[in-house]
Amino acid sequence: MTKDIMKTKILLVENIHTVAKERLENAGYHVDLIKESPDESSLIKMLSQYQMLGIRSKTEITDKVIKSCPHLLAVGAFCIGTNQIRLQSAKMAGIPVFNAPHANTRSVAELVIAEMIALSRQLGDRNTRAHRGEWMKSAEGAHEVRGKTLGIVGYGHIGSQLSILAESMGLNVIFYDIVKKLPLGNARPMRSLEEVLQEADFVSFHVPETPQTKDMMGPAEFKAMKKGSYLINASRGTVVVIEALVEALKSGHLVGCAIDVFPKEPSSNKERFESALQELPNVILTPHIGGSTEEAQYAIGLEVAESFCQFLSLGSTLGSVNFPQVDLSKTNLTKRILNIHRNEPGVLGEINGIVSEAQANIQSQALSTDESIGYLIMDLETKHAESLAEEIQKLKRSIKTRVV
Ligand code: NAI
Repeated sequence: MTKDIMKTKILLVENIHTVAKERLENAGYHVDLIKESPDESSLIKMLSQYQMLGIRSKTEITDKVIKSCPHLLAVGAFCIGTNQIRLQSAKMAGIPVFNAPHANTRSVAELVIAEMIALSRQLGDRNTRAHRGEWMKSAEGAHEVRGKTLGIVGYGHIGSQLSILAESMGLNVIFYDIVKKLPLGNARPMRSLEEVLQEADFVSFHVPETPQTKDMMGPAEFKAMKKGSYLINASRGTVVVIEALVEALKSGHLVGCAIDVFPKEPSSNKERFESALQELPNVILTPHIGGSTEEAQYAIGLEVAESFCQFLSLGSTLGSVNFPQVDLSKTNLTKRILNIHRNEPGVLGEINGIVSEAQANIQSQALSTDESIGYLIMDLETKHAESLAEEIQKLKRSIKTRVV
């Protein structure tokens, strides 16, 4: 149980942006930042001194790490993905995992804007040829983007941000989303993907990877696109059938594309990248860098550090990827007990029994559950919160209890 803010020690590995350390130190926590990604056994050794851990994509949080470190209060993935963490095991050990899924939204939207102009002016090819000593001065096939129509597929965080940026450059925006979305600015919602494909000069994908979005752009969809249009994909590599795209480019139906994500991507910068799109004219290929900017790294550092602060000081699990979400403001007049328990019948009755026996008045209580755990926040008017929390923790089904 954590009583004293100064006792909370946080370990940040993998060279997480220093803004995270600054934010957490300003809140009064002790933070150690290291560059390396420790292997399983060194991580377990190191963690004996820490209650909180921040990682990026390389450090693996295995079942063994979780089992060996039951004292961990939370883990932060200072990145987008959380595949490197055993989320279910962490949950059952009472460890919420936080990440920053949307901190790089703007970076992706800006890349797409740059790509629309680059494709319209054949910048990639002209640049390569100028480097080779070839002088390709010609207006043929080069266009302004002003007045053209951008079709956005997936009007979520990135799609809607792109919509605003594109309109401010004079593009007309249409979009398709499976969920009803509020159109921003003058953007027009379309009833189907086909309607977008038929009307747009640029089609840009911003959907997640789901069974529905797999191979969403195949031969029939490319045929439905306007002749002379462009495709942009900075979402997921599974969305576009590359062979169908190559066919559409070779036939001249499409006059260019910009692709940042691929069905098969090299696992490191050392591995060679192969694609059937290589060497085709007006094709921009980038190595999954849509969200890779220093600003995004800064935003990720700040966002996860903020989640840590809210979790440590209030118990808020808002934005956690593996935990029931609870977020409750608190006054200084009450003590807050946080309890994580296995979600089985009768647990709440047992907890309330302990509180009522101690004659502590419950000022507010919030419970959020999923199929396996319950997360309870209780604000009490009592001087004995610590001993009550100890009693609650002794219950057979309690996983973790602390007072803030
Ligand atoms: P988001 O979850 O905010 O938005 C996705 C939108 O797609 C939602 O509005 C959803 O309703 C919609 N959608 C889902 N299935 C659909 C379907 N079948 N048809 C039409 N719309 C559908 O996600 P966000 O943050 O905008 O990210 C979008 C994509 O961009 C994700 O796949 C993400 O992995 C990818 N991404 C790529 C990056 C890169 O470096 N290239 C960086 C960041 C995100």
